[in-house]
Amino acid sequence: MSEFIGELKRTNKAGELRATDIGAEVVLMGWVGALRNHGGCLFVDVRDRTGFSQVRFDPAISGPEELLLAEKLRLEDVVGVRGKVVSRGANVNPRIPTGEVEVEGIRLVRYSAAQTPPFRIAEETDAQETLRLKHRYLDLRRPPLQRNLILRSRVNQLTREYLAGEGFLELETPILGKSTPEGARDYLVPSRVQPGQFFALPQSPQLYKQLFMVAGFDRYFQICRCFRDEDLRADRQPEFTQIDVELSFADQEEVFAVMEGLVCRIWHEIKGIDLPRPFPRLTHAAALARYGSDKPDLRFGLEFVDLTAALGQSEFKAFTAAAESGGLILGIRVPGAAEKISRKAQDGLNELAKSYGAKGVIPVKVGGEGALQSGIDKFLTDAQRQALRVALGLQPGDLALIVADTPAVAREALNRVRLQLGESLGLVDRSQDRFLWVTDFPLFEWSAEEQRWTSAHHPFTSPHPADLDRVQDDPGSVRSYAYDLVLNGMELGSGSIRIHDSELQARIFSLLGISPEEARYRFGYFVEALTYGTPPHAGMALGMDRLTMILTGAASIRDVIAFPKTTRAGCLMSDAPSPVPDAQLAELGIALRRREQPD
Ligand code: AMO
Repeated sequence: MSEFIGELKRTNKAGELRATDIGAEVVLMGWVGALRNHGGCLFVDVRDRTGFSQVRFDPAISGPEELLLAEKLRLEDVVGVRGKVVSRGANVNPRIPTGEVEVEGIRLVRYSAAQTPPFRIAEETDAQETLRLKHRYLDLRRPPLQRNLILRSRVNQLTREYLAGEGFLELETPILGKSTPEGARDYLVPSRVQPGQFFALPQSPQLYKQLFMVAGFDRYFQICRCFRDEDLRADRQPEFTQIDVELSFADQEEVFAVMEGLVCRIWHEIKGIDLPRPFPRLTHAAALARYGSDKPDLRFGLEFVDLTAALGQSEFKAFTAAAESGGLILGIRVPGAAEKISRKAQDGLNELAKSYGAKGVIPVKVGGEGALQSGIDKFLTDAQRQALRVALGLQPGDLALIVADTPAVAREALNRVRLQLGESLGLVDRSQDRFLWVTDFPLFEWSAEEQRWTSAHHPFTSPHPADLDRVQDDPGSVRSYAYDLVLNGMELGSGSIRIHDSELQARIFSLLGISPEEARYRFGYFVEALTYGTPPHAGMALGMDRLTMILTGAASIRDVIAFPKTTRAGCLMSDAPSPVPDAQLAELGIALRRREQPD
């Protein structure tokens, strides 16, 4: 039988005790984190979420019952201890916050006995992640995960405090709703009451928050759960959290000011850092031209240089082919790296570029005298060599890396090469977090797969007014009022100025190949709402999980989510998703075409 909380009443948290507590009688409660037996004295670390304290059971002080029980304790048992705080004297441990003191155990109660856990509850573990996910509640006991979730809680609180202070209302939106198009597959929920009909879990509360603006709530926020059935990556989960914001009568500057204010407040409170404001900005076009990416990592340089003019006429076929077919020859200069990159590393970069569709990446080393050493050297005239040197600003000892291809492939391949070099050469300055606004995204993207224009952000994003007359004839050139907030090369958030005119909204739907019938069927309520008096409005959403990842330095998004899904979009602990009884399916009017046998 486990003991209930009875005679003991907790007075302190286990990580709190300091020298100033010496002499006090305290009661601690928590888990047995470590056990040591030193010549008759038993040392028990009692741990809770604040840390741990050492408790000593000593035949000279503790009663025989206590000593007997202390001897029987096992790791992860849950105990309560009453005792006196004393100095550790010569045995002070300066490495732990409670290291100056220990508790002389007078009373010991075991509330529950623990089985041997499948892995040790410690700061570090080499247990497999699958095992840890299966016993997530145990992994969550480990200090790093405790720290991550405690920090996450703090971010939630700061967000609420800050946004409430800025006049935002925290309003909730339905989880059972109608599909909104954010570009991923929906998670569907069958309706029992209306068989054959389905709700979709929200990919984001996009339409609801716009309707809040129509309804006159002026400033809305929500820390909301979003669901997207998409392929998972290190920074993606099927179920994730956004800090979602919408503002009426606001322009882009106002959105930026509010969001920068939020992020600065969080950095100030959590990291003690006052971020420089305003955050830098790059247009989407400039970000692509300079870094080949719409989420450039600004913690290091290696900016792109367009070498198409300098090398497009050379005898080297790949260059001329790219230049003549509207492609690009792009290069980066890696200062002083001519001898720093091994043959093997070069091959690795080449393979990397190939895996992103390029034919490879061409290295050019600059020798001591300034001579170029490269497979392509023999195809270049003196003037072209000189043009290459000048364009990239090459110095003796430098390495240049060049990719020639279609603009999209050349940029993506060299972007990956740049990121890889940033890591492998240790160029990334980890002492600071670099924010960046990327603005003026294109409104549409051509989907080669679907052979149609799709929204780059979502279909409720306003076109740039200056480009409105090209919406019909040259959609690919139309800029939008969409923006991203990028942090250290990661997309932290995105948003846009919305369309508040139902006619323009209808035109955009038609360009996206959404017929009036389909638009009416999918978003009819929304388009109708726009006709009843809609304020100009704008907003954005930050990825809360990604934000916490960066703040904690976690390598995986799973480390900042209490109960995450695996890359197979399942939960190893609860075994969700799982089959359901036939009766339950029948009630929903659902018949399975084929049931997979469990592995
Ligand atoms: P978007 O789809 O860009 O915009 O999402 C906003 C931010 O949410 C985070 N995010 C994710 N985080 C973890 N796992 C995922 N699968 C995932 N998908 C997105 C990212 C991203 O920047 N309704 C619009 C916002 C708006 O226009 O106001 C939206 O959802 O950090």
